[in-house]
Parts: sequence; C-alpha cells; structure tokens
Amino acid sequence: MCGIVGFVGKEQAAPILLDGLERLEYRGYDSAGIAVVSAKHELQVKKAKGRLKVLSDIIQGGKSVEGTLGIGHTRWATHGEPNDINAHPHLSGDGKVAVVHNGIIENYVELRDFLKGRGYKFCSETDTEVVTQLLAYYYAECGDIFDAVFKVIHRIEGAYALGIICADCPDRFIAARKDAPLLIGYGEGCNFIASDVTAIIKHTRDISYMEDGEVAVITADSVQVYDYMEQPIEKERCFVDWDVSAAEKGGYAHFMLKEIMEQPEAIRKTAFNRIRDNRIILEDLKIDADYIKGISKIFIIACGSSYHVGVVGKYNLERMLRKPVEVCLASEFRYSDPLVDESTLVIVISQSGETLDTMAALREAKSLGAHILSIVNVVGSSIARESDDVLYTWAGPEIAVATTKAYSTQLVLLNMLGLYFGDILGTVSRSEYSAIIDELLRLPAKMEQMLEHTDDIKHFASNYFNHSSVFFIGRNLDYAMGLEGSLKLKEISYIHSEAYASGELKHGTISLIENGTLVIALGTYAPLFDKAMSNVVEVQARGADVLALTTESHAAEMRKTVENVITVPESHTIFQPSLGVVPLQLFAYYVALLRGCDIDKPRNLAKSVTVE
Ligand code: F6R
Repeated sequence: MCGIVGFVGKEQAAPILLDGLERLEYRGYDSAGIAVVSAKHELQVKKAKGRLKVLSDIIQGGKSVEGTLGIGHTRWATHGEPNDINAHPHLSGDGKVAVVHNGIIENYVELRDFLKGRGYKFCSETDTEVVTQLLAYYYAECGDIFDAVFKVIHRIEGAYALGIICADCPDRFIAARKDAPLLIGYGEGCNFIASDVTAIIKHTRDISYMEDGEVAVITADSVQVYDYMEQPIEKERCFVDWDVSAAEKGGYAHFMLKEIMEQPEAIRKTAFNRIRDNRIILEDLKIDADYIKGISKIFIIACGSSYHVGVVGKYNLERMLRKPVEVCLASEFRYSDPLVDESTLVIVISQSGETLDTMAALREAKSLGAHILSIVNVVGSSIARESDDVLYTWAGPEIAVATTKAYSTQLVLLNMLGLYFGDILGTVSRSEYSAIIDELLRLPAKMEQMLEHTDDIKHFASNYFNHSSVFFIGRNLDYAMGLEGSLKLKEISYIHSEAYASGELKHGTISLIENGTLVIALGTYAPLFDKAMSNVVEVQARGADVLALTTESHAAEMRKTVENVITVPESHTIFQPSLGVVPLQLFAYYVALLRGCDIDKPRNLAKSVTVE
C-alpha cells in the first residue's frame, strides 16, 4: 500500500527520498512522487505513474531537485486511477503547501464542496488534494502552518498519515497520524518520517511511533510532538534490532526465496528463546492462569495467509484445549454482530500489524469486552499497540508481498500458545507436552533438510507451470495447509487455484475435474491418510493429473497410486503443516519464476493492506 518518507537535514533530500521509496517498493504501488523545498523557498513537486525508476529518470536520480527538506510517496490508488495527476505529493493551488497522505479521508466530498464554494479549484480525483487545499485555506487565513495543520486535523474524518511541507518553512516538515502507521526516525543532524521503518533503516534505527491524534514538527536538529489538543508531549524512543542487511536480498534472486530459506532460523528466533528446561515460557503474556481457565470461547481473527494460520490453529487448539475455537476473516467478523463477551479470548494474527480489516475487527472485539492477544511480526505496529497482550514472531522484516516466514512463525507461535494454555488447563498430558516440545526443537533442522533438496520441486514446477487451473485437496490440517498452498500459487503465478476439503469435492466442484486437470493432493495428516488416498483415486478416475504430498512413512503407499510424489519429514501432527507448507511455497515460487512473473511484487497486491 502507499508509502511515506520524509527527510530534513544537511544533505540533498531528493536522493534520500528516492532511496527510501525504493525500500518501500515491496509494499505495492502504482505511482510515486517527491516534493522538496529549496533554500529559495521554492516548492518543487515531481511525480510519475509507474515504477519508481520512471520518476528517478525524470529527476536524474534526484540531482535535478535542489533542497535539503522533502517528502516522498508511493501511491496505491484508492480515489482516482493511477496517473501522474493523482500521484502524491499534492500541491495546493497557491503553490504554498505540499502533502503526502496514506489512508482515506471519509468526508472529503463535503470538504471539497466547502472549498469549491470559496473558489478553490481541484485538478485530481483524490481525497488527499482536499487536505492540501484545506491546509492552504487555513494557512492563508492564519499565516501559521502549524495552526493550520491543527485546524485541518480537527475537520477531517477518516484515516491519515500525513507528511506536510510548506514553501515558507524550508527548515521543517510536519507529520500527523490517525489510524495509519507513521514513525519518526532520529538521525545525526537530520531527522525522518516514514510509514515503515524499512524506508529509513539505512540511516537510523532510533525511532518513535506516532500515536493517533499526534502532530510532529520536525527540523534537522529537533523533533517536537504534540497531542490532539496541541499540548507538547515526550515520545518514547525505541531501537530497531535488525539492520539494513535484513532488508536486502543477500544474493538471492528474490526476497521470497530468501525468506523461504530463512524459515528455519526465523522459527528458532520465534520459539527457542521461549523454551527453557523443556517448558514454554511466555514472559510477555499478561493474562494469568485464572483468566485462561475462565475462557469460554476463542476467536482467531485475521486476513489472508494469517487467516490460514488461524484455520490450522482452530484444529490444533480445539484438540489441545477442548474449548471452542472459531476462526473468522477479519473483514467478516467486524460486521457479523459477533457473540463476544469478557470471557472470550480473541487471538488476532497479523504480520504487518497494520491490516485495516484486522485492526477494525480488533477494536470491535475489544469494545465488546474480549481480551485481545495478538501475534504480530512488526514491532510497535498499531495492532500490537492496541492489543491487551502481544506475542511477537521475531521473524525479522518480511519484504516479499507473498508471506512465507511470517506465516511459518505465526503457525509455530500459535501452536506454542495452545500448548502453553493446554498445560495450564490440564488438557495436554505431560507426555504429550514433552513430545510436542521435542518435535518443536527438531522442527528447524527438519526444515533445513528439506530446503537443501529442492530439485524435485523445481522438476515438478517445470512439468506443471503452464497449467491454467489447479486444485489443492486435503482433509483436516491438510485442508488448512492447502488453503495457504493455493493462495501462494495464485498470488504470485496468476494461475487459477482453489483449495478444497477433499470430502467436499464431490458436492459440486468435482465437475471441474477433467482430463489433465492438476490436482495437488495433500496427504500428510496421518490419521486420515487412507481417506486422502480414496480422494486421490476419485479425482484420478475423472482424469486428474495428481501431484501428491505426503510424509516419508506414507510415501511408498502413495506411490502405488500416484507417480509424482513429494515427501516431507515426519513430525508431530500439529507441526506437520509447518513442514508441508514449505514445498508448496517453493512450488509456487518456481512456477511463478518459469512464468516470468514479478515474484516479489505481484500485480494488484500490497504487502500491508490498509484500506477496507
Ligand atoms: C499472502 C499475504 C496476505 C496477508 C494478508 C494479511 O501471501 O501475505 O494474504 O497474509 O494481507 O496481512 P497481515 O498478516 O499483515 O495482517
């Protein structure tokens, strides 16, 4: 989704802004722009539709834009098509103010009418231009950009992260935030804003997160933050514990491949620090044993792949806890009048911690009295901050749009949470507890073993990359894992793909199976292996070309019926999807590679979905 970066210091701003925007490219965007104030108080705005390279070429890598203060933006269109005019920054009609904005201003139509009535003209279709012109209107009225910003934020409704510069103030920019992420970066003789720390990590790891209603005035040597009532406040600063190399490809062709390969290490970071003397220690959790014993129901709420983690979690947590667990898409939950009260635990899962639907569902659940426990990757993100409890996955930055290591670490952490609760509730026996911990400790090494031998997956990808439709079938945990395998394939290779619970196939969808249809049959869930086999035979009888995935111990049995079989090491049932998903990620990756797709930046997708 949209990205913001802002810089003020002694160096030329434009190249720094371009570099920051490049680091935000992974979030998905369709146009980009920068605005820089020169020492002569000239406000220069340059923007272009398409890749950042187009903008960079226009301004010679930033050399043709002079000035040490500026803001930049990558836009993912919401209001108005992607084109040069709708791209940010937006410049006010009087040329005094330029604005970059993430979020959506809900009352922009009313405000635009108000301004049109006062002679203001609009050239774009965006809600952001309304903010810009409103700022110019108040600035013309009061002559103080700071006061004008406060007048504006008291009039606009909706979500915003704003970066604002004014031609008359070449030494400072202003930032404001509500319901859209924005952070301040503190440098040596320079300061920054960014929607995502990746944009500025090269320059500083010393940051603070802006809260809703806050406004910051930022110069090269000072940062002053104010609350919504214009009172100055002290911000807590934090140190980002990963560096720029974590956000670079490190020799891999794509971030996605790098992140797939990083999974064993990421799982070690997620899990191993939380295991002591073979026991799970969740020091970061505030909820106590009494609360856990009193939980009447658990909701797991998330979107996309994080939702798929929740589907695995439903099976595993219900088994471990003997309590009802409902997994719900965040976008559905918020409008479903959900049955939630004080005894409901809501587990929110999000890599970015900024997904708008998930955030809205969290707030809905919180307002109904639920305890919110989130599993989040991005430290300090909005979901993490608004939750009663947060468990970080510590997977490090995930840059590829298609999630892999975040999915895997969420899955492990959710299982660990289940085991931790199960121990307190007495629903997991001592021996089962130990067996699960043993397997967890072995999991990263088993994954490594798989990642060292990817030839068969490359081979299968080359067999199937030109298929136009694929079905993933499986039962129970295999079905849950199939949802993720299918999403990975479709989002990066653009092949139509569906995941089906095998038993449900015959109730309609089997009519789509014909000669040569690719069916990826998942048979890693040992208790239902025989049933998985029956479903394989069923689709083969309709002409399907089956590629099967099973565990080493079931491989021989599977090979009696299916020629093309991928095997994964055996694990405890609850971790089997953690291993099974790896070949599915790799299959999607190699298929997309062979189809020449833009793997790290698939079309129409954004890394962090901050619109409804
Ligand atoms: C798919 C993918 C998305 C995200 C979804 C939720 O590969 O990455 O489906 O899982 O947009 O995002 P987070 O986890 O950031 O809330």
